[in-house]
Amino acid sequence: MATMLLLPFRTFIPLPSSSASNSNFRQKPVRCSNERQALFNRIAPVYDNLNDLLSLGQHRIWKRMAVSWTGAKVGDHVLDICCGSGDLSFLLSQKVGPDGKVTGIDFSKEQLLIASSKQSSKNCFSNIEWVQGDALDLPFADGCFDAITLGYGLRNVVDRPKAMQEILRVLKAGSRVAILDFNKSDDLLISTITEWMIDNVVVPVASDYGLSEEYKYLKTSIRGFLTGKELEKLALEVGFSSARHYEISGGFMGCLVAKR
Ligand SMILES: C[S@@+](CC[C@H](N)C(=O)[O-])C[C@H]1O[C@@H](n2cnc3c(N)ncnc32)[C@H](O)[C@@H]1O
Repeated sequence: MATMLLLPFRTFIPLPSSSASNSNFRQKPVRCSNERQALFNRIAPVYDNLNDLLSLGQHRIWKRMAVSWTGAKVGDHVLDICCGSGDLSFLLSQKVGPDGKVTGIDFSKEQLLIASSKQSSKNCFSNIEWVQGDALDLPFADGCFDAITLGYGLRNVVDRPKAMQEILRVLKAGSRVAILDFNKSDDLLISTITEWMIDNVVVPVASDYGLSEEYKYLKTSIRGFLTGKELEKLALEVGFSSARHYEISGGFMGCLVAKR
């Protein structure tokens, strides 16, 4: 209980029963995969370094593009789902300004601790609130966000249609979500290069940090992800009024932009 109270963010993941009985925190059924949650907790300390190293800093550009595609503007209340260490939340924070508000949600406590430790670096980031919770059961009311980002998260959730339904539910009518991730390309050359890079660059670099097993999952998770066309179809099926997938960085990355 004491540990939970010290955390600088709200939690919507159930506590063990002994702690939960004394807790003021709202209880929600666990919908998340414990193994994936544990994996993201383990990689949290080196996640930012590895992103910079493995993308040669380009992930910062892709994230700026995603934020811009959401159409977020000054004064908006926006949501960053699967926020991890907070890159997209910080970009959104600058976009919406002091009159706006950003909520970053993730189920990994370790990722959120890193995000909130970075928050103190700039005054403008004081408009961000961190919430520990599940993307498949968002603890927010219907239609309360002006824009949403989801970076490298949809590929990792155990139920993608449910995640998309939740996004649709909490978005205001006419508002947009930008879903950034690896592009599962139809182009054999792109997919071969992606897999070669994972086997020969990503995993060896991650192994220097003792995380080779954790990064080996990338190849299978991209194989199991949806192509741009399939992402557009999923968005329209769950009820978004429009959906367009943009390939970026030569087709290695992609961003689905869907409007409620
Ligand atoms: C690859 S990281 C991406 C972090 C950040 N969005 C970025 O772009 O750098 C994926 C994040 O999704 C989170 N995640 C995966 N499944 C989740 C779920 N069901 N609910 C909440 N967070 C989840 C993980 O904890 C992890 O922090």
